[in-house]
Amino acid sequence: MNKPDSHLFVIFGASGDLTKRKLVPAIYSLYVQNLLPDNFALLGVSRSIFSDTAFREKMKSALHEFKVINDLTKVEQFLQKIFYEAVDSTKAEDFGILKNKLKKLREKFKIEGNTIFYLSTPPNLYSVIPKNLAIHGLNTQKDGWTRLIIEKPFGYDYNSAQKLESELIESWEDEKIFRIDHYLGKETVQNLLVTRFSNGIFEPLWNRNYIHHVEVTSAESIGIEERGVYYESTGALRDMIQNHLLQIVGLIAMEPPSSLEPSAIRNEILKVLQSLRSIKKEDVGKVSIRGQYLASKIKGEPVLGYRDEKEVDPNSTVETYAALKFYIDNWRWGGIPFYIRSGKRLPTSVNEVVIHFNKTPHFLFSKDGEVNSCNQLVLRIQPDEGILLKFGMKIPGTGFEVQNVNMDFHYSDLSVDRIPSAYERLLYDSMKGDSTLFARIEEVMAAWKFLMPVLNAWENDKKIPLFGYSAGTWGPEHADELIEGENMSWRYPCKNLADDGVYCEL
Ligand code: BG6
Repeated sequence: MNKPDSHLFVIFGASGDLTKRKLVPAIYSLYVQNLLPDNFALLGVSRSIFSDTAFREKMKSALHEFKVINDLTKVEQFLQKIFYEAVDSTKAEDFGILKNKLKKLREKFKIEGNTIFYLSTPPNLYSVIPKNLAIHGLNTQKDGWTRLIIEKPFGYDYNSAQKLESELIESWEDEKIFRIDHYLGKETVQNLLVTRFSNGIFEPLWNRNYIHHVEVTSAESIGIEERGVYYESTGALRDMIQNHLLQIVGLIAMEPPSSLEPSAIRNEILKVLQSLRSIKKEDVGKVSIRGQYLASKIKGEPVLGYRDEKEVDPNSTVETYAALKFYIDNWRWGGIPFYIRSGKRLPTSVNEVVIHFNKTPHFLFSKDGEVNSCNQLVLRIQPDEGILLKFGMKIPGTGFEVQNVNMDFHYSDLSVDRIPSAYERLLYDSMKGDSTLFARIEEVMAAWKFLMPVLNAWENDKKIPLFGYSAGTWGPEHADELIEGENMSWRYPCKNLADDGVYCEL
């Protein structure tokens, strides 16, 4: 991999959690791997007042806390590239101060025009900051490129996303805007493409003739932590399904792209999102389940219910669990149900896709009316990253007793030291100007369009229940009823890829 062009990297929202948890650790990792340009500086911007030294100290402790430090000398060298400026992003006049600071940094580090602005702020600033940058002419550079990275959520619903986009494009050209969905930066999510398109054995089976249904799960054992304000305006459907999970569905369901060009891959994902069958208002209650976690004990420790969390309305109807059943109306997938679910305070943190293949047309080995279970291919995104195939084998001995066995591959078996973080990959790509793993506006809009009937019905139709579920369980029991078919249910994954079951070790 080669180094990106010299540039300034500016983070708005620099005093926030994402900056210390993900962004600065990722940029530091790039530095350690010699993947930052020689002429580079990082400027943190937010309303709080810090000196450069105080901000560097804060970042240094974050590197310690998140265990990315492996060389103290390197850390000290890296910190010398970090600077800070207090700016009130809502005030256009403050951007004059920012402009001066950028000019000084350019001179000091001999960086010409290239600049990346990363918006890691509350979403209500996503149109304000780009506009204020443009007022001061910071949206274009005479001697180089300018890019704008925007965190999710892009809008609150279809209309607000459209409004945000039209405000952005007043002063920013589309190719300068990088809409980040950090799931696309995960190695294992990219591996969905490689698994499908570098192996001859999967593709012939990857369609309605051989697949019974597809399941996508994103479970988290944590609650909403300190993010009450954010979560009250999002909920599971907007926070996880509108972006991360539907992008995964795109990769699972897309047609082979003609090349690895950004537009070739993104076009195919877009086609999938545009083929999602729209859900009728009257069907929302049948194909969706929402839930909210209730106070409970996990491993003997009491945990709060969602409504008791900090900065959450005690009568909140925001869902912390969402499950959906839907179809993709195209030739490959016509009639095959997709089930996706995401929830907080579930028994374990797991992300995976399960491809359930059809049963054999005639099962020779049934015993006492027992039916054969179908083959499953589990594509594990995290943790215990890997792939698992489940199939029937003869139990040694007389007769033909069949047992389901596992064939598994774990990333940890590869002799790579570490899997790079999603942000590492995406920040590097943005520095190189590669937008393959960033969401295109049409994808964002297609995802909102698909979810709008559900969001509207959940908000307006009081007959659609919001189920309570005890923290530490697998969400509302009714979610099992979504999955139709004899002996069919969600897979209940464990931390270890090869284990499953409601009672397995978590
Ligand atoms: C974020 C959501 O986008 O993804 C969070 O806002 C969620 O609510 C997080 O916890 C999950 O990311 P990861 O990488 O830990 O699976």
